[in-house]
Amino acid sequence: MDRLKNKVVIITGADGGICHCAAEIFAKEGAKLVMVDIAPAVVEKAAAIKKAGGEAIGIPADISKLESWEQILKTTIDTYGTVDCCVNGAARMSLTGDWDTDSQSMDEWDGVINLNLKSMLYSYKTVLKYMIDHKIKGNFINFTSSTGLSYNGSGCEAYPITKAGIKLITNDMAAKHGKDGIRFNCVAPNAIKVPKMVAAGVFEKYGEWLKSTTPMNTLGDPEDVVWAMVYLASDEAKFVSGALITIDGGWSSCH
Ligand SMILES: NC(=O)c1ccc[n+]([C@@H]2O[C@H](COP(=O)([O-])OP(=O)(O)OC[C@H]3O[C@@H](n4cnc5c(N)ncnc54)[C@H](O)[C@@H]3O)[C@@H](O)[C@H]2O)c1
Repeated sequence: MDRLKNKVVIITGADGGICHCAAEIFAKEGAKLVMVDIAPAVVEKAAAIKKAGGEAIGIPADISKLESWEQILKTTIDTYGTVDCCVNGAARMSLTGDWDTDSQSMDEWDGVINLNLKSMLYSYKTVLKYMIDHKIKGNFINFTSSTGLSYNGSGCEAYPITKAGIKLITNDMAAKHGKDGIRFNCVAPNAIKVPKMVAAGVFEKYGEWLKSTTPMNTLGDPEDVVWAMVYLASDEAKFVSGALITIDGGWSSCH
């Protein structure tokens, strides 16, 4: 309890499996949340956290647009007066369901790159700039993926390329902004069972393959990722920057 007391945290993808779980646990740890998602249900999810005694507002927004980030930052500052942490959680593997480079359209390719990679740049153009201008020693938690660290065998390239890029830009920013006291870290999940992927039939189709290629031979839960995020967002990690924590049952040790 209280490991994130009064920290103002923007979380994108907060209607999704891992980042909604992060919002619930961060709120219990005392954080004040700005929950962002393209799905309008994020507003109800923030209201539920508030009803349970937490501090949260929900903003429906498309984070692949710079204007959305300007609005997210403005609402954060108008509501809480500052920002301490930004969790860049929203991402998609594919926009239309066709993730194979050989068959997908250029619109599909560009859409995945814009959402996963450009949204991160927008968070830096807005939230990071605010932290620097106001001398806030904040931190960023970015989501890469085990599939962005090595060959993954899925036939999908746009998504892992963005995730590899996210790892690199995290390191670059950590190097560049250490002098400002701002930290940048990554979590790299794989095979985490989240409701939207369950609904889309991903685990029905690939569950057994995912388990059999994971040394621990099981799937992970959102909480497994979130406890690493709590650590990275907290003052316990005040000297941790440029780190990458894999949460994948050992997958990246053998791929
Ligand atoms: N679940 C896994 O096994 C796994 C593996 C590797 C990486 N990840 C990463 O974890 C993060 C969280 O994903 P998840 O597993 O919880 O999946 P999820 O699909 O449940 O959550 C992703 C959320 O992003 C939101 N989103 C999509 N496009 C958006 C946009 N344009 N603007 C705002 N929000 C948008 C979706 O509505 C969704 O709620 C992602 O970055 C994902 O790439 C997950």
